[in-house]
Parts: sequence; structure tokens; C-alpha cells
Amino acid sequence: MRTFFLFLSRQKHLRKWMETSRWARQLAARFVAGDNLPDALATCQRINAEGITVTLDHLGENVTSLEEAEASRDAYMQALTEITKQGIHGNVSLKLTQFGMDLSLDACRANVEALVRQAAELGNFVRIDMESSEYTDRTLDLVTYLHSQYKATGTVIQAYLRRSRKDVEMLSARGIRVRLCKGAYLEPASVAFPHKADVDRNYIELANLLLESGVYPAIATHDERIIEQTKQFVASRKISRDSFEFQMLYGIRRDIQKRLVNEGYRLRIYVPYGQAWYPYFMRRLAERPANVFFLVRNLLRS
Ligand code: FDA
Repeated sequence: MRTFFLFLSRQKHLRKWMETSRWARQLAARFVAGDNLPDALATCQRINAEGITVTLDHLGENVTSLEEAEASRDAYMQALTEITKQGIHGNVSLKLTQFGMDLSLDACRANVEALVRQAAELGNFVRIDMESSEYTDRTLDLVTYLHSQYKATGTVIQAYLRRSRKDVEMLSARGIRVRLCKGAYLEPASVAFPHKADVDRNYIELANLLLESGVYPAIATHDERIIEQTKQFVASRKISRDSFEFQMLYGIRRDIQKRLVNEGYRLRIYVPYGQAWYPYFMRRLAERPANVFFLVRNLLRS
């Protein structure tokens, strides 16, 4: 099922139909905070009021023109400006293919650099999400360059990739902040562990490494076993609760989110918004195919 949904996530015709269908948009609303920035900011205010910080993601990836890439940059610059103006406790997360990575590395660098420079001026932060493994090297190169110039950026490491330990060590040595996730794309067994048990084992090893020697790492997962393991690890090593944060996706496992905040841990919610929601939505279905039945049932009830 995971493979099937990830295959569907790349189907352009289905994407076009879904993103323009009112019915499909209603389905996606569980995971997407709205079509536009004002809706997303209102959601961020509500989340902040619960003692949770946010990272705003203007949805989009694999743009096909440089004009689209520039429009993405402008949307993010506006988001950073509004975050500051409205006093929101939050930063932004972006995908390099949304900034033109498939079209021109130079144009992509210029677009992201403008945003990271703005974040540095505002005292804020830009997280560069990690996409499929064909982009990993280019993403890490660009992040290390931007960090050397502005500091105000960090990236994401995927525990399913066999290479990730080396990347964690490289980023930690340079003082670059890492969000650790399991990984959401379809990858061959030559680059990614095919079995969930190996991904989970690697996640725990990398999380412990980051908690001990990383820079303000983000433990991004809804996996209760890993969250419990993290709590025990930081308690046993006397690692301060202020020196790392948990991260979760908007609309997923609200029960664990509430519990973590009540227990005094730092938590950040990834808040996606915008009209290009289809690939993001399909990755969420791929992670938990049972979501399809819950979503359809709720829709039929409404
Ligand atoms: P796992 O998939 O094992 O799920 C554990 C439990 O969490 C499930 O049993 C279920 O209860 C719940 N759960 C998980 N997914 C769910 C869903 N979709 N719907 C309902 N319940 C669900 N990936 C990537 O490749 N690049 C990136 O940049 C990012 N960025 C990112 C940011 C943040 C803040 C998070 C939390 C995640 C990402 N990811 C990501 C996605 C990540 O790689 C992974 O696909 C998802 O987090 C699901 O994996 P879990 O760690 O939750 O574990």
C-alpha cells in the first residue's frame, strides 16, 4: 500500500484533478491548515496558544518554471514577514525543488539565499526539508554553504537512508541543526533500509547521537516507542529539555502532542498550507493507509 500511494503521489493527472476538486480538498483539510497564508497564520496562533511552536510550509515541490520558483520564494518571504509582524513563535520549512532545484542550481541558490538572508536579519530560521535521495547531496551542499554565510538555516536527515550516520556527523561537526525523520519517499534498497525495524533501529541510534553531540536537534516522529526511548535517554544523560525539541505534523496524533506539552517538553508542529497539497497529502496516506477509510467515513458523515 505504501508503494501504491507513493506511486500515486507522482501522477500528474490525478494531482490536477484532486487539487481542483472541492471534495478532495475537504479530505486534505485534516492535514493541511488552509489554502492561504492568513488561514495558516490563524492556525499558528491557535497552536502557539497551546504552548507549541510552529514551522510553516508553503506547499509545493518540483516546480516546472523559474517564475513559479520565484513566486515560492516571495510567498515564503511574505510568510516570514507576517510571522514577525504577528509575533508568532515559528519559523519556515521549504523544499528545494520548490525553489527551482530541478531547473537551475544557481537560480535555486539565489532564491533560497534571499530567504535565508531575510531570516538572519529577522533573527529567524529556515529549515530545508529533505526530498528523495537524488537530491540529498545537492541539498547538503547548499545547506552547508548557506549556513557558512548566514547561520540561520538547518536541514533534515532521513533515518531510512544508509548514508545518514555520515551526514549527521558532518552536519553536527559544522554546528548545523538537524531535524531527524524516518523518510517519506520511495527509495531502492540500495540506498534505503527496506525493513521498518532497521529504519527504527537506525532512527534511535541517530537520535541518541544528535542528542549527545548535535545542535538543538529536532526529533520528528509520531512513533510512541521512539518518543519514550528519547525521554529515557535524555533523562539518563541529564540532557536539558531546552536543548532539543520534538516535532510532529499538523493533524497527526494530537493525543501525543498534548501529552508532551503537559509533561514540559518542547514541541513544534509542521503546518502546511497552500493549494499544491496533493503530493504531501498522498505521502500522509502512504504512511498510514487506514487514513483513507477514516477520511472517507468522516466525509460521508458530514
Ligand atoms: P511511523 O510511520 O512508524 O508511525 C508511527 C505512528 O505514528 C503510527 O503508528 C501512527 O500512529 C502515527 N502516524 C504516522 N504517520 C501517520 C499519518 N500519516 N497519519 C496518521 N497517523 C500517523 N520526511 C521526509 O522525507 N523529509 C522531510 O523533510 C520530512 N519532514 C518532516 C517533518 C516533521 C515535523 C515530521 C513529523 C515528519 C517529517 N517527514 C519528512 C515525514 C517522516 O519522514 C515520516 O514519513 C512521518 O513522520 C511518519 O513516520 P513516523 O516517524 O511518525 O513513524
